[in-house]
Amino acid sequence: MRIGIIGGTGIYGYEGNTVSVDTAYGEVEVVHAVQGDHAVFFVPRHGAGHVLPPHRVNHRANLQALADCHVDRVIGITTVGSLREDITPGMLFVPGDFIDFTVSRPTFFDRGAVHVDMSQPFCPEVREAVLAAARSRQGEVAEGVYACTSGPRLETPAEVALLQQFAHVVGMTLAPEATLARERGLCYASLSLVSNLAAGLQKALPAQEIAAIYDRMRPVVMAVLREVVCSLPEERSCGCRGAAERGQL
Ligand code: HPA
Repeated sequence: MRIGIIGGTGIYGYEGNTVSVDTAYGEVEVVHAVQGDHAVFFVPRHGAGHVLPPHRVNHRANLQALADCHVDRVIGITTVGSLREDITPGMLFVPGDFIDFTVSRPTFFDRGAVHVDMSQPFCPEVREAVLAAARSRQGEVAEGVYACTSGPRLETPAEVALLQQFAHVVGMTLAPEATLARERGLCYASLSLVSNLAAGLQKALPAQEIAAIYDRMRPVVMAVLREVVCSLPEERSCGCRGAAERGQL
């Protein structure tokens, strides 16, 4: 099996051969690692050395590079702020749905009329595997709706009050990554690390405390990823592969 992992802030854990993949959307550095019989292709979402802020991430190039490496499943790691008092920093969160508030609209279908179905926003097979692995590592794992903003700034308290009405966490990177994966026929699910309570729910969390959470959680996230890679069946039995064909008018 070939699986792609897109790593976010604070989560860079794969060692292997770094290859540069030249896609139609730009060049992407991919770390090729081996886990047992499985090939893992790791893309640092923000570019090598974390040079790209959220609004500059080249999501199309990242997904295309993974597709060019012939992966068929992708796990996106993100960090999020919590909108709920009971979802606390250091917890793992597995999104079940998302709302895309980002403002640029990259798609793989710039011409024609392809409208992929997002009524099941994540691949059910990969999402279940992520959830099970997260639970086996951390017991209590939160689930719910991820609101995605453009960033790079954080939210105002009024924005947080609004988002609280329909979402559980807020972050800057899940969209349009999840949609682009669907457009390319790749299975996609996400694992989020809660790094802070969102603006207005507590005094601003000092950067060192957030960094300490990354340090504490990095081994847990890596263990979850290893477990997911081992637990996924070789063949896909979901419908993600044909999403674009089914969305063609
Ligand atoms: N808001 C948006 N994105 C984030 C946050 C936040 O509070 N924390 C981590 N990513």
